Amino acid sequence: MRRQIVAGNWKMNKTYPEALALVTEIATDLQNNPANGVEVIVAPPFPFLAAVNENKGANIQLSAQNCHQKESGAFTGEVSATMLKSVGCEYVILGHSERRQYFQEDNQLLEQKLKAALAADLKPIFCCGESLEQREQEIHFDFIAQQLKEGLFHLSNEEFDQVIIAYEPIWAIGTGRTASSEQAQEMHEFIREQVSRAYDAEAASKTPILYGGSCNAQNAKELFACKDVDGGLIGGAALKSADFLTIIRSF
Ligand code: G3H
Repeated sequence: MRRQIVAGNWKMNKTYPEALALVTEIATDLQNNPANGVEVIVAPPFPFLAAVNENKGANIQLSAQNCHQKESGAFTGEVSATMLKSVGCEYVILGHSERRQYFQEDNQLLEQKLKAALAADLKPIFCCGESLEQREQEIHFDFIAQQLKEGLFHLSNEEFDQVIIAYEPIWAIGTGRTASSEQAQEMHEFIREQVSRAYDAEAASKTPILYGGSCNAQNAKELFACKDVDGGLIGGAALKSADFLTIIRSF
C-alpha cells in the first residue's frame, strides 16, 4: 500500500499566535487520537516555521512553501533550502501554480529549486495543474505531461524517490469548485503512467500523488477513495483545525 498523506498549505495566512494555536490544536488532537498511519504535513509561512516546529509534536511534519535556488548569498528577502532544513523542515512545496503565476516561476527555475532542495535534504512536494482554458481546449493531459517532463523528470531515480507529486487543477484552487472524483482519478492515473514511462513501474506504484483544489471536510472522503489519489494538498480548509482533522481522517 502507498503512503497516505495530508498536507496543509497555509499560504500567506495567520499571525504568529494564530499559527501556534492552529498547530497546537492539530497536534493535541493527533496525540489523543492518532491518524492510523496517515502522514500529516503543515506548511506555514516562513516566519512561523521554527515555532511551529517546536509545537508540532511527533505526529506532524514540517514543510516550507518555497525556497530559493541558491544555497546562500546576496539575495535580499530570499530563503534557502539549507536554512529551511536548519529550522526543522522535511519538505518544501515547489511549482505551486501561485508561484508560477504571480512570481513567474517556470520549469527551468523549478529545476534549479528542486536541485537545491534535494541538496539540502528537503523532499519536494512538486505541484502541477492545468488552467480552465487548457481543460476546455482538451489539452490538459498534454500540458501536465509537459510540466512533468520539463519540471520534474530531469531528476535521477534516487532523487525522484524523494518526491511527492500534487495535482492541482488551477480552476479548482480556492474557487470552491473541486475536480470530480472521476476527473481527479483520471488525471492521477495519467500522472502515474508518465512516472512509469520516465522511471519505471516500481517508481510509479510507490510515488504519492496528492490532489489539491477546494478539497474540504465534505468531499475529501470521495476524493481519497480514488485508486490513484493518495491524499491531499489542502489550502483553505487547512486553516481550521476541525476541518483539517476531518480531512486527515477521511481515508
Ligand atoms: O496548496 C493548496 C492548493 O492550492 C489548494 O488550495 O484548498 O484553498 O483550493 P484550496
